[in-house]
Amino acid sequence: MIYLDSAATSFLKPPQVAEAVCQSFGHIGNAGRGAHAPTLNASRLLYSTREKLAQLFHAEQPACVAFASNATQALNTAINGLIGPDDHVITTVCEHNSVLRPLFRKEQEGTQLSIVPADEEGKIHPSQLKACIRKNTRAVVMHHASNVTGNVTDLAKIAAIAHDTGALLIVDAAQTAGSIPIDVQTMGIDVLCFTGHKGLLGPQGTGGICVRKGLHIPPFLVGGSGVHSFDREHPSDMPTVLEAGTANGHGIAGLEAALDFLLETGVETMHQRETKLMHRFVQGIRDIDTITVYGDMDAAVRAPIVTLNIGNADAAEVSDILWEDYEICVRAGAHCAPLMHRHFGTEQQGAVRFSFSYWNTEEEIDRAVQAVREIAADYEETIHA
Ligand code: ALA
Repeated sequence: MIYLDSAATSFLKPPQVAEAVCQSFGHIGNAGRGAHAPTLNASRLLYSTREKLAQLFHAEQPACVAFASNATQALNTAINGLIGPDDHVITTVCEHNSVLRPLFRKEQEGTQLSIVPADEEGKIHPSQLKACIRKNTRAVVMHHASNVTGNVTDLAKIAAIAHDTGALLIVDAAQTAGSIPIDVQTMGIDVLCFTGHKGLLGPQGTGGICVRKGLHIPPFLVGGSGVHSFDREHPSDMPTVLEAGTANGHGIAGLEAALDFLLETGVETMHQRETKLMHRFVQGIRDIDTITVYGDMDAAVRAPIVTLNIGNADAAEVSDILWEDYEICVRAGAHCAPLMHRHFGTEQQGAVRFSFSYWNTEEEIDRAVQAVREIAADYEETIHA
């Protein structure tokens, strides 16, 4: 089997991730809920993982990071906590539904929404975003990399535009956390929402939110915190304010092991290898006449994603052939990014997404290229028959 669906979830993880999850059973109790050894083990685990996340994203301090179960939960926390009915928000056509649906819900409550268009390669131009700024713009909420095209947006430029008018930059880093270096301070990111199971190589059900020091986000979820139990209000200090209920301690044990691997290997090293594999794939398929590739393949920095169609062949059928005949795993369909597909005119057809990981081999890429070439040749034969 060849796994080329890492943008959906990383499949191969460093072996120490599963080992850490297993070892956490019988080792950790409930973090922050007592002073016996198991609960202290859990509290220490959460703290050291927070430290490593803060180190990875260059946050001001570990307390800037709160755990969440995925990027969607983190985005819901940021959007619901920071945006009100009188505010204006800017987003883009490239967004995943984890950004769009919470914003569409806000729109129903009165929030004004501007959606920045993309160019023909699916890229966002900061000048077009700047043109959308209004007096009451509260935030720009957008991706770091598109999960359809792999295009990366220059967030430092977007942050400068947002901050110039006092707006916040809230970022969906689902496709880049762990795959592309992120420095929240130099990039001017106020709120970074990330998942643990993609580039961070951790278990599903992990992730978090990294909030600029001093920015208060009222909690979306409230409940048990292990402290101030007689208060009617949930504690307001980071990170407790954004962490109601028992943490996913076993998942976080795996995430910590993944972070150890990432920090030792270096995100830049991982990124360079993934980029090389992605370009090898693109070179292998670029000359096929019937293929359309979506995104700017020549950009200096990209997420390791190549999304394509073969003529007007249904993307789901192509992905089924890839699996049934070649044992290649890819993702087809709309990738939960409806406006991006509307932009490319692929609402009905969908598109086939190949996404690469550090562990893919050059031989696997060559087999995927060969598979695409054969499917494209069959397609051409069919349309000319
Ligand atoms: N958001 C994930 C993807 O793009 C699941 O496939």
